[in-house]
Amino acid sequence: MPKNFIPQDQYFKKAKELGYRARSAFKLEEIQNRFHLLKPGLDILDLGAAPGSWLQYASKIVGPKAMLVGLDLQPIESITKNIKTFVVDIFSEEAVKLIQKHHPKLFPIILSDLAPATSGEKELDHLRSLELNRQVVELSAKFLAPRGTIVLKVFQGSDFTDFIKELKTQFSQVEVYKPKASRDRSFEVYVIARR
Ligand SMILES: C[S@@+](CC[C@H](N)C(=O)[O-])C[C@H]1O[C@@H](n2cnc3c(N)ncnc32)[C@H](O)[C@@H]1O
Repeated sequence: MPKNFIPQDQYFKKAKELGYRARSAFKLEEIQNRFHLLKPGLDILDLGAAPGSWLQYASKIVGPKAMLVGLDLQPIESITKNIKTFVVDIFSEEAVKLIQKHHPKLFPIILSDLAPATSGEKELDHLRSLELNRQVVELSAKFLAPRGTIVLKVFQGSDFTDFIKELKTQFSQVEVYKPKASRDRSFEVYVIARR
């Protein structure tokens, strides 16, 4: 058994103890411990944010003066006053308008834990995940600050290498990371891309 191994049900238990709405919080925590992206005062756009555990974790680090905006198809129960959440499809024009209206400045960080409704067919889920991620990249062209960073969740598959190549044409540094809190069997990885 690898060192620091934590069985998956332990993440569930730990999330409950710490009041996180999902175990996904620990994936962001690992990303943070490795890449140190979140800093006090940084505003955050979180795409695919329901039920809100990334927002909960991120807000602890960026603090009450930062503004966090979370979008999802599902409603997100309110967290703190500096977190605004909206029920909206990230492919819609309404999503763009909502972000512009509620946060007219650019974001230093855009997080995406977006996942398609899984079909059980690995290749199909991979292609849907890429569609979501290409939309995040489009949104980042509008909303990411010049030296900003995006974090993407990607389901790996046949077009993964091409997607990474695409990212490298737009971002100067692109790294792939698999947190321990991601189930071993899952083919999800996170991509950290910096301008
Ligand atoms: C793994 S969950 C996110 C968990 C979240 N990071 C947390 O910590 O609570 C993925 C989310 O992506 C959302 N999603 C998928 N497609 C979407 C779309 N087109 N627009 C907005 N949200 C979407 C789903 O509704 C789902 O809530």
